[in-house]
Amino acid sequence: MLKRTLGKNGLEVSALGLGCMGLSFGYGPATEKNDAIRLIRTAFERGVTFFDTAEVYGPFVNEELVGEALAPIRDQVVIATKFGFQDGDSKKPMDSRPERIRAVAEASLKRLKTDRIDLFYQHRVDPNVPMEDVAGTVKDLIREGKVKHFGLSEAGEQSIRRAHAVQPVAALQSEYSLWWREPEHKVMPVLEELGIGFVPFSPLGKGFLTGAIDERTSFDQSDFRAMVPRFTQESRKANAGLVDVLGRLADGKSATRAQIALAWLLAQKPWIVPIPGTTKLSRLDENVGAASVELSAGDLAAIEAALNEIQVVGDRYPAQWQQRVDR
Ligand SMILES: NC(=O)c1ccc[n+]([C@@H]2O[C@H](COP(=O)([O-])OP(=O)(O)OC[C@H]3O[C@@H](n4cnc5c(N)ncnc54)[C@H](OP(=O)(O)O)[C@@H]3O)[C@@H](O)[C@H]2O)c1
Repeated sequence: MLKRTLGKNGLEVSALGLGCMGLSFGYGPATEKNDAIRLIRTAFERGVTFFDTAEVYGPFVNEELVGEALAPIRDQVVIATKFGFQDGDSKKPMDSRPERIRAVAEASLKRLKTDRIDLFYQHRVDPNVPMEDVAGTVKDLIREGKVKHFGLSEAGEQSIRRAHAVQPVAALQSEYSLWWREPEHKVMPVLEELGIGFVPFSPLGKGFLTGAIDERTSFDQSDFRAMVPRFTQESRKANAGLVDVLGRLADGKSATRAQIALAWLLAQKPWIVPIPGTTKLSRLDENVGAASVELSAGDLAAIEAALNEIQVVGDRYPAQWQQRVDR
């Protein structure tokens, strides 16, 4: 798979990464450990060198899984993880106090079975800790060799600028996909100006854009989509038109919807690296195949025109989480 570079300090990764969250957390019961390890190692065999996890996925167990799976190939891959929630619990408030960042770094290094974190993201901006203090703490960790690169997630324009002024930011990880294009307005111009890479999460719209989810789908209690306004039954019914349009575009390219969704992201900027997640080997192959799907200017224009006809229904987060993003 072709490589892309995130930021200006030479962080080279495969054009598509692997989001590992869903193997342990967020989308229903965890995948059996040996199967999850096999999936992660198969991704590497298919050319993926960029693996995404976080302290809060599990919590903790996803980092342990990623560490174990990648230990034999540690020097050939880039591992990204995240700090920033109290006690590593995503239901609790933010906590990016310097002492907490340091403690997470030490614990994550152990769980990941490694001596350095290649990319350490602040998971959400903490309104109680000045960004300069966060960036300064990560800068110290970089100086100590424990961290290689600094990242932010769902940060707004001013936070990105303040962080970057203290410690160059290699990548912003935020939601971006065919049905969530908000970053195009304010954030992506800042990334382009400062030379920061963009790692879109939920690039398949949490599965919806692939056509695998419809109004008849029911979600497990531990599947957070059950709480997301965009995934209510009414929203899924209302948004089915988007799936239909993507199906027609995909058929025209002899590709799948998932591949169109990923190829579209790759076509937006050369500094974009999506991190689709899956628990299934067949879907891994399908998603990796997106790196070889070329969209022409005509294809992109057709997608744009089709999207302009569609009004996506439902917020991407429940109200209590909405306040944590774009600050
Ligand atoms: N920074 C943040 O705040 C944040 C937030 C969310 C996610 N993330 C990261 O981003 C990664 C990816 O995001 P995501 O997992 O939310 O969403 P995603 O990649 O858009 O979608 C994942 C969902 O799509 C399904 N899927 C994957 N490939 C498919 C295919 N080819 N056909 C049909 N269904 C397919 C998966 O189900 P199966 O497992 O059944 O295939 C899973 O339910 C996560 O793993 C995590 O590392 C970060």
